Amino acid sequence: MHIHIIQLVCFALMANAHTYLTNLTINGTLLDEGKCIRPPWENENFPVKDVTSKDLLCRTKSMTVASADICGIQAGSNITVDLHESGPGSRALSESHRGPCIVYMAPLDSNGDGPVWFKIYEDGWDKAADTWCVNTLIANKGKLEVTIPRDIAPGNYLLRTEVIALHEANRVYGADESAGAELFPNCAQLAVYGTGTVHPSGVNIPGIYDKTQPGLHYDLWGDSTTYEIPGPTLYVPGKGAPIVLAADIQSLDLSIGEDSELILDTHPSPTSDDVTQLSPSSKSNHCVGKKRRRRARIEM
Ligand SMILES: *[C@@H]1O[C@H](CO)[C@@H](O)[C@H](O)[C@H]1NC(C)=O
Ligand SMILES: *[C@@H]1O[C@H](CO)[C@@H](O)[C@H](O)[C@H]1NC(C)=O
Ligand SMILES: *[C@@H]1O[C@H](CO)[C@@H](O)[C@H](O)[C@H]1NC(C)=O
Repeated sequence: MHIHIIQLVCFALMANAHTYLTNLTINGTLLDEGKCIRPPWENENFPVKDVTSKDLLCRTKSMTVASADICGIQAGSNITVDLHESGPGSRALSESHRGPCIVYMAPLDSNGDGPVWFKIYEDGWDKAADTWCVNTLIANKGKLEVTIPRDIAPGNYLLRTEVIALHEANRVYGADESAGAELFPNCAQLAVYGTGTVHPSGVNIPGIYDKTQPGLHYDLWGDSTTYEIPGPTLYVPGKGAPIVLAADIQSLDLSIGEDSELILDTHPSPTSDDVTQLSPSSKSNHCVGKKRRRRARIEM
């Protein structure tokens, strides 16, 4: 009897396809497996179906499994995430797992708690081509390219990638054992540098989704003509109101010459020594913590 139960469990695990974030590519450099990824993909390998669960954050009940590394990236540049079913080199995910891909960011020091998450990327269903983001992901061998908004304030961030598989979503989660959308969230730690000033307003995760909303309760094989990507409105660079927090200004760099006109520039202006950059020659330096000093400069 025990053996029978174990066999059933094994079968269920095998039947459950997944996808995990395995590698990041920044500035065209493929980083080591698991570098800056939180949690490492091998630690948490299940779909999240209960959208009220803390697991929806980064597919872990505990956010204590931080990555040792924070990968530096220029605001406005692209990051490529690699999503795979069972680690590097495996397929992206099952062909049956159609659905959207969504990417969020939040300040790293929030640990993901509170109304901190803003959406930076979404791709749902191209009806004309009948192509879901999952189809594109599979065609691109698990690679998804996302732009870090050019005007967000420099600092450390969590990047949260999410793939939603809708193959069982014709029934609401809880209706039966396999019912409901399967969500595959993963996070990574980034040190964003640049001259941006915007702190986009955010939402809570969990809290963004409802199991009955059309983006999560959806019949892939029905006669729908549209698909509504769940979650908040996409953050579009240039559309947000810049907010410069007084707390961001930690020191004053006063260098005033004769006959100078004082202009108080409150925009944080990281200089080259503010950011520890990636060094392509050194593997261990691909991802490094960012040392940042923010200044209010008084310019001549
Ligand atoms: C991820 O990086 C490792 C090297 O650290 C590499 O062996 C692996 O092939 C990469 N994965 C993919 C999908 O490119
Ligand atoms: C950056 O990624 C976006 C897709 O998110 C793509 O449209 C754009 O062409 C990419 N830019 C570069 C320079 O590769
Ligand atoms: C990425 O490349 C740009 C220029 O192409 C450079 O300014 C930036 O420092 C690079 N970022 C990293 C993390 O190496």
